[in-house]
Amino acid sequence: MYRIKGGNKLSGEARISGAKNAALPIIVASLLADGETNIENVPDLKDIHTIIQVIQCLGAECDFDTGKNKLRIRVNSVKNAGVPYDLVKTMRASIYVMGPLLARIGQADVSLPGGCAIGERPVDIHLAGFEALGTTISLEHGYIKARAGRLAGAEFTMRVISVGATANIMMAAVLAKGKSVLENCAMEPDVVDLGNFLIKMGAKITGLGTERIEIEGVKKLEPVAYSVIPDRIEAGTYLIAGAATKGAVKIIGVLPDHIAACMAALADMGFIIESGKGWVSVKPSAKLSGAMVRTMPYPGFPTDLQAPMMALAATMPGINVIIETIFENRFTHVAELRRMGADITIEGNVVIVKGVEKLSSAPIMMSDLRAGAALVIAGLTAEGETEIRRIYHCDRGYERLEEKLSGLGADITRIKGGGL
Ligand code: EPZ
Repeated sequence: MYRIKGGNKLSGEARISGAKNAALPIIVASLLADGETNIENVPDLKDIHTIIQVIQCLGAECDFDTGKNKLRIRVNSVKNAGVPYDLVKTMRASIYVMGPLLARIGQADVSLPGGCAIGERPVDIHLAGFEALGTTISLEHGYIKARAGRLAGAEFTMRVISVGATANIMMAAVLAKGKSVLENCAMEPDVVDLGNFLIKMGAKITGLGTERIEIEGVKKLEPVAYSVIPDRIEAGTYLIAGAATKGAVKIIGVLPDHIAACMAALADMGFIIESGKGWVSVKPSAKLSGAMVRTMPYPGFPTDLQAPMMALAATMPGINVIIETIFENRFTHVAELRRMGADITIEGNVVIVKGVEKLSSAPIMMSDLRAGAALVIAGLTAEGETEIRRIYHCDRGYERLEEKLSGLGADITRIKGGGL
């Protein structure tokens, strides 16, 4: 658990790590080429260790230098087509192996992910995309059984914009015979980073970062060296944490364009946001007001920052309105924030937060990664000592969280054996 003594204004600089959600598909995409792939700026996170286990179970050899954030992957041939339930249940992104497996060996047996704390999260679009490329899909004993010969390029329009489906189908189409045209694609920087990695490997892809991606299939890809982009969600989380404590925080090693929506939301609330090449800073002005935020696919305000934003809204003057449009059930942080004195009303996917002067500490519990970040932010602003349990959720996605926050002046300690 974390024990946080609230009230310190954060100040100083925090360096942002590599993007978890870009690194995950990039690591899996290394399966598309035999030989040695070298990936830099890989964050040392629980989810990264899990995806390494997943590709190891498919025959890859991995050597992760966590101190240097460098991952070396050796692929001799892809041996196994299966990913067991035990791995998929700990991390839904395991589904990413389907694209490369179908592209390379025309076969994938992957446990169907269940629902999770933030919603039902079906994978129907991934599967429909694979079917369009010539795959036969069946569901047996909780496993997706996918079979194909060499995939054939196709036109495919996604029913809703999906980061995961765009990435997965792109990884399948790069080795397909002929041209694929994908419509209604996700434009998230993580998808673009994966696409750039694939292009470096020899894939022919145009339209990255737009709604329409065209892919001309090639016969073979080559292993490469690549560096992952900075994590825009981690970056946004530190900006929001700085804002919530009314401190002055500068984040470095970031691409400001990637967090433009978060910067705009904070500026609307009266925070002074400055940025330059590779950095963004936040500090309060004399006139602060409530937030109006609607989560949207990129370049809109990210759903992954909705919970942290709500923790900030909890102590902003006046009324805050937060609308979640991506996941139907991403509000598990609300009950915990209420225990700390936040005034929050939920109406469907609309959340009204009436700012209170101060939150007060309470024993609370994380239920997912970004909800966890929100509780940490709430703890930083609260009066008294907050104990937050189940912090393994944060370990999935925030590298050295307590170290970075302590560096900014927070009073936060990790306590082993805090109980569940
Ligand atoms: C990615 O999840 C991220 N995960 C999530 O971050 C992030 O919240 C999400 O994108 C949205 O930005 C990774 O990159 C590993 P989607 P993903 O497919 O790909 C529906 C975090 O905290 N949908 O873009 O699973 C879906 O239910 C995580 O780091 C279907 O209906 O999200 C949702 O409503 C949590 N059918 C919407 O689309 C499908 O086949 C967008 O989901 C696929 C998705």
